[in-house]
Amino acid sequence: MPDNSIEFEDNFKKQFKYYKANRVKPSFHDVMSVDVLKDNEVITVTPLNAETDPRGALLGLQKQSLWHTFAFQNHPGLLLIRNPFTNAGQRYWIQRCLQEYPKKPNKLNIDIETNVQDWWLECFKDGECNRVLQKKLRWTTLGYHHNWDTKVYSDESRTPFPEDLLELSDVVAQYLGYTNFKAEAAIVNYYHMDSTLSAHTDHSEVNLEAPLLSFSFGQSAIFLIGGKNKSIEPSAILLQSGDIIIMSNEARLCYHAVPRIVPTEFSPWNHENLEIPDNTSSVVNFKYISNPSQLIAVMEKCINNEMWNQFNNYIEESRINMNVRQVLNESQISITDEKFNNK
Ligand code: OGA
Ligand code: MN
Repeated sequence: MPDNSIEFEDNFKKQFKYYKANRVKPSFHDVMSVDVLKDNEVITVTPLNAETDPRGALLGLQKQSLWHTFAFQNHPGLLLIRNPFTNAGQRYWIQRCLQEYPKKPNKLNIDIETNVQDWWLECFKDGECNRVLQKKLRWTTLGYHHNWDTKVYSDESRTPFPEDLLELSDVVAQYLGYTNFKAEAAIVNYYHMDSTLSAHTDHSEVNLEAPLLSFSFGQSAIFLIGGKNKSIEPSAILLQSGDIIIMSNEARLCYHAVPRIVPTEFSPWNHENLEIPDNTSSVVNFKYISNPSQLIAVMEKCINNEMWNQFNNYIEESRINMNVRQVLNESQISITDEKFNNK
């Protein structure tokens, strides 16, 4: 009898294995980098709203006129904004992902084996760094907590979404012309040099029209993105610190994966120019941030090299990805909101 269990060739898996392999190191010849433009692969796009958003400076972003945004010929709906962050901004977000977001009530992969309330603090509890505990953290979830087993969000498993990441996501969404995007769930992924993330689609959100925003910091990664099924051969894209990937429209439900972390050639968080914005917070209107002077305070702390050192040690051999989603439809107030409950 013919074997019907294999309906198609898993070309995604082939590429994943190729880039993951260590025995035979993969060639990076076919990995797309937007720094090396090839016209038949990558195109520069002009966003709908290139006006500088005054909130950007305090969120560690450069002026919008300096941002470079790219689209991919073979992947409609996929966009890449090449590191729009300032060097101090890079430090700010790396610090937040390490010191702030893995605090309770946010959820962490290590919750099942430990009772840690504040992971970063716990790592340095004895004066020196507990590398074992440090390496154990693989993800933290924010807002509507991703349920790794059922893949279903629930109103009972929701905690406040960080105001700064909410505001950052709003600035990026507005720039792209999404005026009603609202960050409601995020996974912060922590990768070591040998970590991978296998092929998947992100389809748990009620609202699949809203784009998914993915922010990368630290070491680089090979990001694979294919199509709606795994027979479609994926493209490999190099993601570097500060890059933002947007999965929208046709790309929103495409298979993607991270088969390899790559040591970075640039460490913008260690560049000399670490200017921080002046305290103009009082004149900027934030949508979500209630205490803008705190952003400056955190940035000031981060540009102090002595303070930065513990974060630097981590990021020199890790990659962090903040994967932000809108969960609900525009006027929906909860997962169980009756208006949307006729499925
Ligand atoms: C995810 C994801 C990709 C990345 O968290 O769903 O696809 O670049 N992350 O780490
Ligand atoms: Mn994903």
